[in-house]
Amino acid sequence: MGAARGEFSSRFGFLMAATGSAVGLGNIWGFPTNAASNGGAAFLFTYLVLAFVLAYPALMAELIIGRHARANAVTALRSISRGEKSRLAALLVGFAGIVTVSFILSFYTIVSGWMIAHFFAPIARLLGMQGLAAWLVEDSIVRNGAFVLLFMILTITIISAGVKDGIEKWATRLMPSLILILLLLIGYVLTLPGAMDGLRAYLVPDFSRVTDPALLVDAMGQAFFSLSLGVGTMLIYGSYISSDENLPTVGSLVALLDVGIAVMAGMLILPAMYVALANGVPIYDEAGGLIAGPGLIVSVLPALFSTMGFVGLFVAIAFFALMTIASLTSSISMLEVPVAYGVEHHGVERRKAAIIIGLLITVISLLIVLNFDPLFDMVVTLTTEVSQPLLGFAFCIFVAWIWHRNGILEEIQKGSPEVESGWFWKIWPVYVKYICPPAILLVYFQ
Ligand code: PFF
Repeated sequence: MGAARGEFSSRFGFLMAATGSAVGLGNIWGFPTNAASNGGAAFLFTYLVLAFVLAYPALMAELIIGRHARANAVTALRSISRGEKSRLAALLVGFAGIVTVSFILSFYTIVSGWMIAHFFAPIARLLGMQGLAAWLVEDSIVRNGAFVLLFMILTITIISAGVKDGIEKWATRLMPSLILILLLLIGYVLTLPGAMDGLRAYLVPDFSRVTDPALLVDAMGQAFFSLSLGVGTMLIYGSYISSDENLPTVGSLVALLDVGIAVMAGMLILPAMYVALANGVPIYDEAGGLIAGPGLIVSVLPALFSTMGFVGLFVAIAFFALMTIASLTSSISMLEVPVAYGVEHHGVERRKAAIIIGLLITVISLLIVLNFDPLFDMVVTLTTEVSQPLLGFAFCIFVAWIWHRNGILEEIQKGSPEVESGWFWKIWPVYVKYICPPAILLVYFQ
């Protein structure tokens, strides 16, 4: 198996792939709107604390298990288990991760499809195809189905090409473009009237909200979703990291980049909403809160772009290119989880596994498209609010309570021989053993 497994060719390659997985709709859409509806910088502050105190240790747990086992989640968790009971638990947790990530991908694909459709709409307008442009932005089953298919074809194509020639190659191309587009858009939007009100709404904290249980739950869910935790994604990417790599360092870089890009996205989305308000676009819902759900991205922002005239077409293209890139580098990391399992456990050839599993997930997506109202919110809630935190909890238990401490230390020492005397080894084992599991449960049961 060893020789046939892929590996990232460089630290940069891994960083772009893992950050690509982490940075997605969750950062550019979820984080800013969560912040807006939860006390602005109070949410930002809580999120930063939770991301580093709870999510970073859980991320490290996945990376370490993955690189140690050099295998998919099921095999990896089994390999660190001791005894029959924990091996059975490993099977259940590994499988639950595969099922969860497949369902996350099934709804993620639908939203990503909207992003591509909105990317093409201003292009159609520039080409004078007004009818097509109108169809692209109108919610319909045919459009949603067609773009689910297109997005899944892109995802399957990249995953079929493998770790180095697919995931790494595309992540190293797409992620720098994403950061560049984000910076350009922030620079532009901040010059527009109203933008400073948005920045104020984002950055002036309402600290009375910090102890609000809803804020805590939202911030933790956001942190786990954003770092792609609990479903084996970071585990499988960890399994492709070279043994010479310093895991605590690369893990911190991924967490920092993810959080940094989320914070930056807030500096785009909230100012953009207040610019929209200044241009006469309604940004509050009936309850008086800021519009946060799908309405924000597919109606408020497009309405804003259309008030900008000709320039607005280019701003719209850039914005939806940003969203499409963010979605694609995340969706490939999701599909890799079941595909790696199919390849390693059942000996299926990678391309075949990617096509078969990709098609199965496409069918689930299409079922959700056809029954959107009852299914969409239910799948989102079950996967991201119920399953993901519980699985994150399970990964912490595996690494801290089941795996031998010596095995963990040996694995980390591979890329950082001096780790035993450093800060990471002094803090992390205690955190992941005594602080993370009860804290995750506490916030979860809030
Ligand atoms: N981290 C991605 C985001 O913030 O949009 C979502 C995600 C990717 C969740 C990969 C789970 C996953 F396995």
